Amino acid sequence: MIFTVAIDGPAAAGKGTISKAVAQDYGLAHLDTGLLYRAVGWRVLQGEAPVAAAMALEAGDLSHDDRLRTPEVAQAASEVAVLPEVREKLLDFQRKFARRDGGAVLDGRDIGTVICPDADVKLFVTASADARAERRFLELEAKGIGVSRAQVLADVQARDARDSSRDAAPMVAAEDAVTIDTTNMSIEAALDRVREIIGLKLQA
Ligand code: CDP
Repeated sequence: MIFTVAIDGPAAAGKGTISKAVAQDYGLAHLDTGLLYRAVGWRVLQGEAPVAAAMALEAGDLSHDDRLRTPEVAQAASEVAVLPEVREKLLDFQRKFARRDGGAVLDGRDIGTVICPDADVKLFVTASADARAERRFLELEAKGIGVSRAQVLADVQARDARDSSRDAAPMVAAEDAVTIDTTNMSIEAALDRVREIIGLKLQA
């Protein structure tokens, strides 16, 4: 069975939590495509050139969650993500992942628009910048990463602006995506809505 769920949206909107839960519920493989850009960003921070870093990417690069989830790597990721050559190097891997037997859920910025325009389900998960910054602040705080709320908000806004305004695969909801605004929604309520959408599609 090939069944692709595309989940896009801005930083800390809840994509990751929703994707993981959906993958678990329906037995789908999950790819957090942000980790690919973070891993390239991390290599660039170590001194590699962006395109060379994208070409050198190995599966093992993605398994260092701690070093990839820092604010510095997030900014580096969004800087390399504006480069069409970097995006192109990561394209095949993502498309193959999306078409793996048994189905897949991919979350990112351009899954429903560029990577999988034919995805079976497309969601755009969003929330206000303040709500997202607060969630990200709490996540970073729990990991012992010392940053201020104001700094996290500024980082999220800088990344949103760069991700939405770039020429190559900008962050935008696909025309046929269902938008879910989680600003005032619990994760459980958001998941109920998502399960309803996926359940209907699976029945069809
Ligand atoms: O976890 P968070 O939502 O903060 O970010 P992420 O999903 O890990 O993505 C980090 C950065 O990678 C984003 O700010 C984007 O610039 C870039 N990215 C992208 O351009 N395209 C994707 N499909 C996924 C991430």
